[in-house]
Amino acid sequence: MNETNHRPASFAEYVGQTQAKTVLQILCKSAKKKGTSICHTMLSGRPGLGKTTLCRILANEMGSNLIELIASNLQDPQQLTAQLAGLQENDILFIDEIHSLPRAVEEILYSAMEDGRITMVVESEYGDLMKNLGMSSKQTRTVTLDLPPFTFIGATTLAGMVSAPLRSRFIQTLDLEPYAIDELKQIVQNASSKMNFDISPTLAIEVAKRARNTARIALGHLKWIIEYCIATDSSASTQTVTEAFILKGIDDNGLTKIDRSYLQLLVNAKSPVGLNSIAASLGESSQTLSESVEPYLMQEGYIRRANRGRVAEQKAFNLILKMEVCT
Ligand SMILES: Nc1ncnc2c1ncn2[C@@H]1O[C@H](COP(=O)(O)OP(=O)(O)OP(=O)(O)O)[C@@H](O)[C@H]1O
Ligand SMILES: [Mg+2]
Repeated sequence: MNETNHRPASFAEYVGQTQAKTVLQILCKSAKKKGTSICHTMLSGRPGLGKTTLCRILANEMGSNLIELIASNLQDPQQLTAQLAGLQENDILFIDEIHSLPRAVEEILYSAMEDGRITMVVESEYGDLMKNLGMSSKQTRTVTLDLPPFTFIGATTLAGMVSAPLRSRFIQTLDLEPYAIDELKQIVQNASSKMNFDISPTLAIEVAKRARNTARIALGHLKWIIEYCIATDSSASTQTVTEAFILKGIDDNGLTKIDRSYLQLLVNAKSPVGLNSIAASLGESSQTLSESVEPYLMQEGYIRRANRGRVAEQKAFNLILKMEVCT
């Protein structure tokens, strides 16, 4: 069984995200006809929805060289300048998590995106002469470099935190949507057939239902079920899939132990609780809660934000009551 990460390599294999996919396919077609590069594009959406995958597909379909960078590794403006200076015609430069680019680094992108040029500070070629004349050999001068036509793809999980000047320089902004159960079922079935693992459509739906509308989570669940079946010398059946999910503490709605502890805390409090207090009580960071736990609980109507903190909705009370009855 081949268990490497089988990312879809073409638009045809990439399930769902119809709007983003169609726009990119049109841009691809028109760029190929014109013989130009695709316009600078921002991809936003929650973790695991397929931003990186979509960018790699775009590079494949365009036959372009792809340079992938992560904002947190670009702390020094010169690092970005060096990458931009090395671009070849029609290259795609992909930077992940653009909301966390330092301002000085971001500013280099402004002219690269808008005017297709960057300004670099280089050491003067007269450095030696200056040194001989007793002047500092660290004399520098500014040069402007015209870049070849290229495409910048910026990805972010927090679109609201991308600065206005950077955001406004993207010609296209595409928001990836949470997946529907049917789409996740398809993703699970495609991946399992690539891995030569038999899973019935009914069981693929069971996996999809617990995937929190996210492709990465669906594939993570599938991989766990495969491990479980191999270890227990069994095939995928209602019983093995249920056992595998129970062992991982994942319930029928895809909620995990941390989700349930979070909801239990809010239900017990009966009044709004601040994020920091919840984080301290659960021993989690506020960032983990606000980025990985709360979005799904809010989307599914378990909790809401109020003026003085987070509040449990009736759905959370029902769930906790049901859990207490079952134990
Ligand atoms: N539409 C899709 N069809 C099939 N598989 C998908 C799709 N979208 C994502 N995947 C799979 O889900 C996983 C996560 O996708 P990806 O890494 O592209 O997400 P991301 O949005 O870049 O996440 P992050 O914000 O954490 O970087 C990958 O293994 C990818 O192959
Ligand atoms: Mg990514």
